[in-house]
Amino acid sequence: MLDKINSLMADIQALAASTPEEVEAIRIKYLSKKGAISALMNDFRSVAADQKREMGQRLNELKTAANEKLAALREAIAQGAEAAAADIDLTRTATPMPLGTRHPLSLVKNEIFQIFGAMGFTIAEGPEIEDDWHVFSSLNFPPDHPARDMQDTFFISRSPQDILLRTHTSSVQTRTMESQKPPVRIICPGRVYRNEAISARAHCFFHQVEGLYIDRNVSFADLKQCLLYFAREMFGPETKIRLRPSYFPFTEPSAEMDISCHICGGKGCAFCKGTGWVEILGCGMVDPNVLEACGIDSKEFTGYAFGMGIERITNLKYRVKDLRLFSENDVRFLHEFDAAK
Ligand code: PHE
Repeated sequence: MLDKINSLMADIQALAASTPEEVEAIRIKYLSKKGAISALMNDFRSVAADQKREMGQRLNELKTAANEKLAALREAIAQGAEAAAADIDLTRTATPMPLGTRHPLSLVKNEIFQIFGAMGFTIAEGPEIEDDWHVFSSLNFPPDHPARDMQDTFFISRSPQDILLRTHTSSVQTRTMESQKPPVRIICPGRVYRNEAISARAHCFFHQVEGLYIDRNVSFADLKQCLLYFAREMFGPETKIRLRPSYFPFTEPSAEMDISCHICGGKGCAFCKGTGWVEILGCGMVDPNVLEACGIDSKEFTGYAFGMGIERITNLKYRVKDLRLFSENDVRFLHEFDAAK
């Protein structure tokens, strides 16, 4: 028995471990119920009475030595981990992560939201796939109006009812008037589609923000003031506006609005083709036929509407020469707007 104890003692002194799992294996091998030391404890019962004292002592020494060894191994492993952690340089700069930026059209759209939001307009949205009623008929387009023609409109189906891609977000105005009693004060952002050949100056889709205000006693003067405020907020406090008579089926009277060219300050330059003015939007007083078509009493209520292309406003602000850049998602182009965030 003494030999066994001595040889186990030698084994234990020589033990080494580099992971907590190895330490646990050692504990199981020597100190668990089925371990080598427990087995010796069982043998101890058959030791002769006169040797019990010495054997007992030796056995206890062995057990203590094993426990101490385990504790020492655990400590060494923990210290090793700490030392490894101390090797990590927490002050080192991390690998840079490329960050995305807002798309220029989103930047301008958000700015438009802010400006009209300050005047009490809320945002209304509607579907891009529309029917003839919401895009044309309700808006006073005569049945043979050229804008319904295949030249401009992408039709999805012709019967039993015309289903098409909306050519303007005025359809959202109709939808809102149908479902909401005046006063109505909304702006309608969204993508619109027109069947045009793609070039630097035209695309088959673009983005609009249209506006609608309906209440008692809304006048053309209110429209003008609202748009003047918008132009000055968007293009600077010196900006002048001018309204030229125009035609839209859904407004009467109708106008197109120019702003003083913010590049030459109105003196005339290549950008404004020497005129000092650049066109930015269409507008007018909502035609009574449109109000009636949407179930609003045109004797009690009047309203104004306006509509602009976000690409156009963005071009004026940032002078983007080619419309196609907006949809190609070339990151070199998009990163030019980092600073505008
Ligand atoms: N819907 C017109 C367009 O798409 C813009 C517009 C809206 C004009 C409201 C007048 C009033 O061109």
